[in-house]
Amino acid sequence: MEQITFHHDTVLSDVHMLHPSGHHFMTHLNSVGQPVFMSRFKILTERRDSNDPEDKRERELRETSETDIKAARGRDGEEYGDRKAEPLLDVDGDLDIIHRPRPNTVGDGGRDWTHPVILKQNSTVLEQEEYDMDEEGCHWFKDIIRIEHTMATPLEDVGKQVWRGALLLADFILSDPDMFRGATVLELGAGTGLTSIIMTTVAKTVYCTDVGEDLLSMCKRNIALNKHILEPAGGEMKVRQLDWLQDDFCTDPTMEFSWTNEEVADLNNTSFIIAADVCYDDDLTDGLFRTLCRLCSNFPRICTIFISMEKRMNFTLRHMDVSCEAYDHFIHCMCQLQEMVDGRCRFRVEQLPSNFGQFLLYERVEQLELWKVTATPLLFEQTRSDTEPFSS
Ligand SMILES: C[S@@+](CC[C@H](N)C(=O)[O-])C[C@H]1O[C@@H](n2cnc3c(N)ncnc32)[C@H](O)[C@@H]1O
Repeated sequence: MEQITFHHDTVLSDVHMLHPSGHHFMTHLNSVGQPVFMSRFKILTERRDSNDPEDKRERELRETSETDIKAARGRDGEEYGDRKAEPLLDVDGDLDIIHRPRPNTVGDGGRDWTHPVILKQNSTVLEQEEYDMDEEGCHWFKDIIRIEHTMATPLEDVGKQVWRGALLLADFILSDPDMFRGATVLELGAGTGLTSIIMTTVAKTVYCTDVGEDLLSMCKRNIALNKHILEPAGGEMKVRQLDWLQDDFCTDPTMEFSWTNEEVADLNNTSFIIAADVCYDDDLTDGLFRTLCRLCSNFPRICTIFISMEKRMNFTLRHMDVSCEAYDHFIHCMCQLQEMVDGRCRFRVEQLPSNFGQFLLYERVEQLELWKVTATPLLFEQTRSDTEPFSS
């Protein structure tokens, strides 16, 4: 008899789970037979036709959060619009999922605000829906990011889904774009590349890194899908392989996502490192922190690192209780980083408040956190105190 393999480690991102019912069309199968989907993420920005953009954005967010609240109430078994949402079981006793109702369209050409909407690729009708017409012809809406991704992957392929941490970090960039304007930025564990794409709308150069040709190719296709946002901004986004479990950069010119020597040298200009939802396995987290130390200890200037993290609670047999082991290990690594004395770099760690503006639509649950690490090379501090005789 043929052996049946059960993937007990299949995971599905809430970003894809909590989309409105309806268009669940996949675009194609990827090279390893996984269905590939496309989602659109709308950036809530000031409307060109609005008299009071601030009011309008607030209204959009309020309407959206009302939809979210109704959906959340529905999940808890309370009133769901005008329909009672009891916990429903089908005839076999399986849980029947009630999908969030499609939201009302808000007087803007009938488009929805709730996301993601998964579309069939190359559909003429749907493409027209996303075009903006002006005197010069057709344009993709400048505020819609299109991301190719898969759903419900095994753990080793989690990068092919979009995670809430990517959206939180993207929101952080959008809430203070001036901080990153013209900068050289390195993203670690970039997955589909969504956060790097947002970053490239303000930064000069973004090195968007991850591992695996399949994933990096998907990321590259996502750059192509978002030319309408990236080209006008003028920044450059480069997809490169950077494995936290390797000590060196891959500079083999025969490999597609390898680094040139010039690019490796250019990393010395890095002012920011960003990483979204990258701590979910202790060995990988150790590798990530080793990579951060190695990079920052060699940088000639201060580098600021932003890491988004979702504190996921799990029931473990080991503890016979609910715990968040991956998060606890992350905090342990952060403490070690702050206490580290290697004579080359000093790290200062702080958690940032997560109450900055929301430009993308997702549930900003309280478990979503944003952390900032400031890495100061000691040589830099030394040089500064030598040249500033009165500094304290
Ligand atoms: C949960 S996903 C997050 C992806 C994306 N940042 C997001 O939030 O949507 C974790 C990412 O870490 C990447 N990763 C895992 N092991 C890695 C390694 N050894 N080196 C570099 N990246 C790795 C995965 O490929 C994946 O893209």
